Amino acid sequence: MKLFNQDLPRGTSSMSYAGLLERLEILRSTLRWASRLDRPDIEKLLRQANAVRDEVMQLSHTERFVQAVGSQAAPAQTPEPMPEPTPTERRLALLARSFVFEGTFGDNPRLLDALEIAEKAAPTDLPVLVDGESGTGKELMAKVIHANGARADKAYISVNCGAIPESLIESELFGHKRGAFTGAATDRKGKFESAHKGTIFLDEIGELPLQGQVKLLRVLQSHEIQRVGSDETIAVDARIVAATNKNLRKLIELGQFREDLFYRLSVIHVTLPPLRERKDEIPLLLAYYGDEAAEALKRRPVAMTPALRAFLLDYAYPGNIRELRNLMYRLACLAGETADIAHLPEDIRPVAPVRAQAASTTPPASLAEAKRAASDEAERACLERGLKDVGGTVAELARRWDMNRSHLQILLKKHGLHSKDFRRH
Ligand SMILES: Nc1ncnc2c1ncn2[C@@H]1O[C@H](COP(=O)(O)OP(=O)(O)O)[C@@H](O)[C@H]1O
Ligand SMILES: [Mg+2]
Repeated sequence: MKLFNQDLPRGTSSMSYAGLLERLEILRSTLRWASRLDRPDIEKLLRQANAVRDEVMQLSHTERFVQAVGSQAAPAQTPEPMPEPTPTERRLALLARSFVFEGTFGDNPRLLDALEIAEKAAPTDLPVLVDGESGTGKELMAKVIHANGARADKAYISVNCGAIPESLIESELFGHKRGAFTGAATDRKGKFESAHKGTIFLDEIGELPLQGQVKLLRVLQSHEIQRVGSDETIAVDARIVAATNKNLRKLIELGQFREDLFYRLSVIHVTLPPLRERKDEIPLLLAYYGDEAAEALKRRPVAMTPALRAFLLDYAYPGNIRELRNLMYRLACLAGETADIAHLPEDIRPVAPVRAQAASTTPPASLAEAKRAASDEAERACLERGLKDVGGTVAELARRWDMNRSHLQILLKKHGLHSKDFRRH
């Protein structure tokens, strides 16, 4: 089809808005005048659209937002610096750009930093290394990267390098030929081949033995694999996302991880903060996983005593979000109407009962943090009091306070309050 013979002008190192707009216009006119499109044409247009998107992504934040505004102003004037967007604005901007969150939520600035990096990395094929403690959402982040890239409809293959015995790891990753070793009864495809055209997630990459690291490095360089026991090379095109809860730089110093592999894998490096460093997310996560657990167990959401709630808001969560989620399932399973400290696993249960108001043991990190905590506490107390006064009728409380009812519902959810717990019997 002759419409497609003309290739788009290629991006240069100095990408300009004008250049990108021109390329978009060519795409648009191609679409406007085409009476029908065959699959290969659609794919070509998609590739061209993706290329334009990649270049837009590469323009730095300043170029995308500040200079674009500045260029409209009189050239002699220095543009006013844009105010930093708030976390909510950043999240809404991601949504407006059709970012796929895959169930990741929270408005913590460090989490948003990670999501914004993921957004830029996703449409490229660059390897991404995600690190962070266990349960901070590394695997979820890998899925986010896959879901936002051009490979979203292709395979996503996850391999836990720490869970496979050392002797089997190569065959697991690269496959094997029949008879390659005792027990290799048939030819077998490895995870890399299964991930062809898609994404391979290499979890616990710090656990990969040195020999496996050498082989992996070779795959990264040549984009080819060899099944164990075979001389034949097979081309594989798999996007690599690796994760670790170890400090790889330390492992490099100890001679347990190859430095060249580290640099190959961490072209894009994302670090997820532990939950205790983003405590502002805890109320939302408690509400979310409380509801999810109730639904999974087909029961009504469990209310919490103030002491339990105070504990959960301040607990350090060494297992991070996974631990919080598991705790909510445990409470939903063990508690009746209302869960209390006694329903917590024994090893984390505080010895002396925690008093709701004075529960916080860690001093606030800053004045702003102290103010926010106090304001949250006051908001919660006010909501509880209000609900008690109206016997749990949210519509009535919204009327009394002259508030939008859905806004009130959001506030209740934020604090994990359930109106039914305030109904008069
Ligand atoms: N930001 C987040 N919002 C909601 N749920 C999350 C978030 N981060 C992690 N989770 C949940 O926490 C659990 C652990 O996440 P996972 O990605 O397996 O952690 P890791 O791989 O770091 O051990 C999963 O159930 C995941 O859905
Ligand atoms: Mg994991």
